[in-house]
This record gives sequence, C-alpha cells and structure tokens, in this order.
Amino acid sequence: MLIRRPKSWEMPERRATPESLFLNRRALIKGAGAIAAASLVAGCDEMVTSARAQAGDDPSSGLYPFARNDRYQLDRSLTDEEVASTYNNFYEFGSHKRIYEAAQALPIRPWDIVIDGEVERVRTISFDDLIAQMPREERLYRHRCVEAWSMAVPWSGFPMRALVEFARPLGSAGYVRMETFHNPEIAPGQRQSWYPWPYVEGLTIAEATHDLAFLVTGVYGKPLKRQFGAPLRLALPWKYGFKSIKSIVRFTFTRERPVSFWTEIQGSEYGFWANVNPEVPHPRWSQATEEVLGTDERVPTLIYNGYGAEVASLYANIVGEELFR
Ligand code: MTE
Repeated sequence: MLIRRPKSWEMPERRATPESLFLNRRALIKGAGAIAAASLVAGCDEMVTSARAQAGDDPSSGLYPFARNDRYQLDRSLTDEEVASTYNNFYEFGSHKRIYEAAQALPIRPWDIVIDGEVERVRTISFDDLIAQMPREERLYRHRCVEAWSMAVPWSGFPMRALVEFARPLGSAGYVRMETFHNPEIAPGQRQSWYPWPYVEGLTIAEATHDLAFLVTGVYGKPLKRQFGAPLRLALPWKYGFKSIKSIVRFTFTRERPVSFWTEIQGSEYGFWANVNPEVPHPRWSQATEEVLGTDERVPTLIYNGYGAEVASLYANIVGEELFR
C-alpha cells in the first residue's frame, strides 16, 4: 500500500509517547469512567452495554458459535488465530501491521448503522438489532491482501444479500457505498490529514448480492476482535483485501460509482474492481505468488483468488476497464 512520508515538521515516532501506552491508559480511564457511570445510572441499558463492551464482554457473544455452512471449503489449513489477530491492516490505528493493541481503544457499543441514499426508507439500526434479524452462519474463506500475503479464516456473519434485502434499495441504485467510523480522538491514524478519511469502499449491487459477499461479525467462533474491524466488516474473498472494509457505520445506495479510500489516494494502483489476478502485477510488485501467514510458504496466487467459477460471470460484459487492479 502507499505509505506517505511524514513532513519535516511532524514529530518523529521515537519522540512521541508510544501509541500503545497512550491508548491503553486512555482506554483504562475511559473504561473505569464508563463502569462507574453505569453503576450510578441503574437501569440505563445503553451505558451498561457500552461498559461491558469496553471491558471485553461483547453483548453478542451469546450468539456464537454460528453453524458452519459446509459449502465453503478451503484448499489449505486455517491460519492460526494468534497469527491472524496480531497482523492486521487497519490504517485508522497505524500504517503498520501491529495495530492490535491500539485498536482496543475503539468503542464498539453503542454502534449504529445508517442505511440511506436510494432506498425506500432511510433508517438507522443498532448493530445488535441488525445481527438478531440476519441469517447467521460461519464460512471458511481465503483472504488475499494486495500486498501479496494471505490467510484463511473462519468468518462468522451473514450474506450481504440479506442486508441489501433489508435495506430495500430503489431500482435507481446501482452501487452500495460503505463507510467506516470517523473519530480522530480514538483513532490516531485519522489525525493524519493527508489520508481522505473516513475509509470508504464500494460495490455494484450485483457484487453486493453475490452469494460470496459476506458481512462479518465474528471470527474463530467468537465476536470480532476490534483489530479485525468490529463489530461489522466485509469479506469479499475474490477481491484484494482492501475492498473488505472494517468497522462499517453506513451503507449508502447510490446511482454513481463510489470513489474508495485507496482509489482516491492512488487510483493508478488501487481501482474500483480490484479482483485478484496473478498475471496483472501491481505497478510496484508482482502478484504471481503470496506469502501464507504463519508459514514459511509462498504459493501461487489464483485468478479471483480461486473463486473464479463463482464470480467470473459478474465481469463478463464489462469492457474497457481495469478489472484486476
Ligand atoms: N478497513 C478499514 N476501515 N481500514 C483499513 O485500513 N485495510 C484493508 C481492509 N479493510 C483497512 C480496512 C486491508 S488493506 C486489508 S488487507 C484488510 O482490511 C485486512 O484485514 P485483516 O486485518 O482482518 O487481515
């Protein structure tokens, strides 16, 4: 991915308070405050829920594990949970892979999701009300980052098609635009003003309603940890990982094609379609092989990350566009 160099007037990292210490202390103070407030305001459900989530007791944990849907099989071993949980891309919390500690500062309750744009009725729904109504299952998926590493994980969640049906888009909607939370106070990366926050991604309605498009609420049989994009993220196994937006707060149905975060930063390297193809190199590196996280292996990358039989027809009539970047 593109990593911008800090300007000369910015404080070098070594002179700043280590982010993890700073954020841990803030999280501790905030968590203690939330618990005290919750005990004072007896019966105030929202605060109790919020304090429990801060303390790591996710209010949706009783729903897990979800029944596995065996239609989704892997050709490789699952990535070790510890490895997948400590090597993440979440630029809101830093432009490196070890963001898991910093990400713990993200408050995940209350968590409201807005559904708007070209829909019958604009509405806001809490994450817990949404997950309660959705058809929940577990799927084993491969994940291929544009940076040429990959993992295989058991995602828990529900088909994105169910969300689209719930949203009731109008016939005029051709795309769905998704947006991540925006809160520079808790996400240090969002204080880096050269990035076009909030993180945005988009899909055509045909892609969003494809059987493989999966909205993720959990992983390894438990609610999502914050570093994976709690409480709600996307998994699109046939596309480069940057399309799988984390910590979603808004779904907007649009006529126009949305411009995503990475496309806005560097459109020649990160496009709208971003389908995996080993034969189309990134302008700065090869996409022919991938490093399998947690192993010493590099394996050949597959067209559409191995999901071509299912998804290639989505793109059969698209001409004159770069489908693989
Ligand atoms: N979503 C948000 N909001 N912010 C991000 O930085 N990174 C993307 C994607 N979704 C990102 C994001 C990239 S580049 C990848 S590869 C995956 O999240 C990484 O998911 P993982 O950390 O669960 O492996």
